[in-house]
Amino acid sequence: MNGNSIGKALIFTCFGESHGTCIGAVIDGCPAGLPLTEEDIQAELNKRKPGLSAVSTSRKEEDRVEIISGIYRGYTTGAPICMIVRNRDVQSENYEHIKNKPRPGHADYTSYIKYGEYNDYRGGGRFSGRVTAAYVMAGAVAKKLLETLKVEILAHTIQIGRVKVHRTILYDEIRRNTYRNPVRCADLEIASLMEKEILEASKEGDSLGGIVEGIALNLPAGLGEPIFDSLDADIAKIMFNIPAVKGVEFGAGFRAASLKGSENNDQYAVRGEKVVTLSNNSGGVLGGISTGMPLTVRVAFKPTPSISKKQRTVDLRCMEETEIEIKGRHDPCIVPRAVPVVEACLAFILADHAIRSQKIPRIL
Ligand SMILES: Cc1cc2nc3c(=O)[nH]c(=O)nc-3n(C[C@H](O)[C@H](O)[C@H](O)COP(=O)(O)O)c2cc1C
Repeated sequence: MNGNSIGKALIFTCFGESHGTCIGAVIDGCPAGLPLTEEDIQAELNKRKPGLSAVSTSRKEEDRVEIISGIYRGYTTGAPICMIVRNRDVQSENYEHIKNKPRPGHADYTSYIKYGEYNDYRGGGRFSGRVTAAYVMAGAVAKKLLETLKVEILAHTIQIGRVKVHRTILYDEIRRNTYRNPVRCADLEIASLMEKEILEASKEGDSLGGIVEGIALNLPAGLGEPIFDSLDADIAKIMFNIPAVKGVEFGAGFRAASLKGSENNDQYAVRGEKVVTLSNNSGGVLGGISTGMPLTVRVAFKPTPSISKKQRTVDLRCMEETEIEIKGRHDPCIVPRAVPVVEACLAFILADHAIRSQKIPRIL
């Protein structure tokens, strides 16, 4: 397993398992002199805490951050920052039956093939959505770094199951409403329809997917390292490393395939001292480099794999076909809890690239 780190100037290493001692993040390369407290990290973690409503898992985790290293007198020192949250509400017995009978849609089968008897399957182990607590801790540091450039990161739910947001949402609505409802949608009327949709699916022992939109505002033009570390490629990579992500698109995204050049091109204009574009179908990235317009990325999540409906699987001990009914506590829809994770992932890659482009100095 050597794929647990991401970033080039700012490097995030993720560790911990769902039912192990803790989930943790090590951030190496953070400039010295950034004011950083446990409250800064905790505020972000609180947004993804489980057990907050009927639309999320009933696993109750306090997710209280402990900063182990890298901070002295309230400032980063330039040394690695290690942060953990302990696992407290663990019920490993619910996972005994999946040891040999892989859950359809989860990583039980592929992790068994790769790590054999040594795989920690309890609670999904390394493949649990719980590892995203580490992503959020890393993102909290990145957000503080981006604040020095006045870059703002937003995210909100735009689709759950068949319920979609159809209108343009204002940035102020996202700021005001997203974390005021359990599904993290900025349109409060649509939010209550989404909540109903999740509760109905959950009553039937089923689950739903959906789409989260992430936005970066006030991003400087010029971030991104073509060819292979282009900004959109790096953002897509981290987003695809959020468990259950099945699609990532920027700006007009897949819709661009059906537009004409004259419809898709973002034409240039001057506003004040700045070159701007009159539309933003590129989603704020051209040639892998930020344009200075809002960066918009949409991330599609599949329905939660663990559902209580009866499903077909295989008993790997005797290679016989059998059935599985999944017990335990699961999110009936991953999307609401993934919103702060999308924010964190976007912030992390932008902070890494801001350091690489020398927009953020080594000592603040
Ligand atoms: C925040 C979050 C919470 C999740 N919660 C659950 C869950 O309760 N039950 C479940 O089966 N999968 C859950 N997942 C999804 C699985 O971790 C994921 O589907 C699995 O690791 C297989 O990976 P893949 O879907 O990316 O192929 C969650 C994912 C995230 C991001």
